Amino acid sequence: MPSFIQLSDTHIVPEGQLAYGKSDTAAALSEAVETVNAVLSRLDPIDCAIITGDLTDFGTRAEYERLKGIMSRLNLPYMAIPGNHDSREVMRAAFADQDWMPDSGPIQWSRDFGDFTLIALDTLVEGQHHGMLCPEGFAFLDAALGAAQGQPVVVATHHPWMHSGVIAMDINNLRNGAALLERLEAYSGPVRMISGHVHRTMTTQIGRVTCQIAPAPCHAVHLSHMPDSVNSLIMEPGGVTLWQWQDSPQPGLASNVIPVGRFAGPWPFYEA
Ligand SMILES: [Fe+2]
Ligand SMILES: [Fe+2]
Repeated sequence: MPSFIQLSDTHIVPEGQLAYGKSDTAAALSEAVETVNAVLSRLDPIDCAIITGDLTDFGTRAEYERLKGIMSRLNLPYMAIPGNHDSREVMRAAFADQDWMPDSGPIQWSRDFGDFTLIALDTLVEGQHHGMLCPEGFAFLDAALGAAQGQPVVVATHHPWMHSGVIAMDINNLRNGAALLERLEAYSGPVRMISGHVHRTMTTQIGRVTCQIAPAPCHAVHLSHMPDSVNSLIMEPGGVTLWQWQDSPQPGLASNVIPVGRFAGPWPFYEA
């Protein structure tokens, strides 16, 4: 069954630094790579991995090279879209040898997995923390939805439109998400939207579209709904998301958030 791993918000910083002075994001990504490699040996084959934005913290060439060095240990090919912490042209140059990377314009691509199509869109507005889908993004989406012909689609963006309740994050969400969701609502087949940016696992239903935000392998955004709370990071356990097509009991795509790290066990529930 087709499947992929979603990594998000890896926030790699230059060698010798911690993100925000607190978070060893390179160590967290290394641990995530080890976690994924370990589960690969006991799961049905996985096609690839994707990174849904904020690959780096400052969008520098050195950070992308550091990310690529860590990701080279992953036993899967991977593709990526930018987030608000990325720099589109630096990212393009870093992955110029990859067939999914466009030569110019938004960093967007689609992949046909057979049972579903993954459409990955670029919502980066350079120099801003909020997201917007540009006219080329809508045109790419329209063409990809047309090509999918009613088959299930998964639309990936860095910025979600759904709200998290964390005010500082929600004001920097996908500002024109309503126009995107309107198109997805009009699509003739099943649709999901998957995103990052919030560093927390959350799911909601908007109309007929199931929307899910992925965790980061590193720090999380502190969960607080208080209007006066300072937007903060917290070292909650990191995670990666396995997206796996299932034929039964009905065809559909299941998500499974896998915590990053090594844990005691497994032990048989009962001794033989
Ligand atoms: Fe992020
Ligand atoms: Fe972000």
